[in-house]
Amino acid sequence: MIQVPDAISHPDVPKFFGKREYRELHLDIGCGLGGFLIAAARQHPDNAYVGLDINSRSLSRLAASLNFHNLPNALALSSEGRYFLETSVRFRSISAIHVYFPTPYIRSLQIPDGVEWKVRSRLLEPHFLQRTRQVLTDGGSLRVVSDHREYMANAREAALQVGYTEVPWRDHIKSSRTLEIIGTGCEREMLNLGKDIHTLMFM
Ligand SMILES: C[S@@+](CC[C@H](N)C(=O)[O-])C[C@H]1O[C@@H](n2cnc3c(N)ncnc32)[C@H](O)[C@@H]1O
Repeated sequence: MIQVPDAISHPDVPKFFGKREYRELHLDIGCGLGGFLIAAARQHPDNAYVGLDINSRSLSRLAASLNFHNLPNALALSSEGRYFLETSVRFRSISAIHVYFPTPYIRSLQIPDGVEWKVRSRLLEPHFLQRTRQVLTDGGSLRVVSDHREYMANAREAALQVGYTEVPWRDHIKSSRTLEIIGTGCEREMLNLGKDIHTLMFM
C-alpha cells in the first residue's frame, strides 16, 4: 500500500490525497483531457492516478471533469514529464507510467496556446526512459500507445537500450467502445481517421 505524498513531492498532493492508502500509484504523462485518467480512476478505486500535462487549457478542462466525476483518487498537475520525474518522484514508487499519444512533432508545442513549459525534444528519449525505470517499482510497467509508427519504433529501440524488456500489452481499463484500448480523445480521433493504433508495454 502507498500514500501518494510519500511518493510525489508537489504542494497539491498532500492536500488532495491526504493520508489515504492506495494499492498502486500510476502516472499518466501528457494526460490531455484525461480520457484515460478518469476511466482508470473510476474502474480502479483502490489505485491512485496522477496526470501531468504542460497545457494549462487542457488541464483546466480536465480539472472541471474530475470535479464533475468527484473522484478522490485522480489528480491532474501542470508539469513537464521529464522535469517532474527528476524533481518530484521518489525512486521505486510508481506502479505504472502511461504515455498515450505523446506529441511526435514538438514544434506544435512551441505555439504558446496554453503551453506553459518549454519542451525541446520528444518525450520518449533515452534520458527520460532511464528515469522512468528508476521510479517504477519492481514489476512496474511503462505503457505507450500511439498511431505514429516511426515514433513508436524509436521509442521501442530506446527503451530496450536503457534495459527495459518488452512484454505483451495488457489492458488496464475496459473501454465502452469496441476497438478502443485506452479511451482517450486522441485514440478516438485516430480511430475515426482509420489509423492503426500501436501499443508497447515494457517492464
Ligand atoms: C497528442 S496529446 C495526447 C493527450 C492524451 N494522452 C490522449 O491520448 O488524448 C499529447 C499531450 O501531451 C502533452 N505533452 C507533450 N509533451 C509533454 C511533456 N514533455 N510533458 C507533459 N506533457 C506533455 C501535450 O500538451 C498534450 O496534451
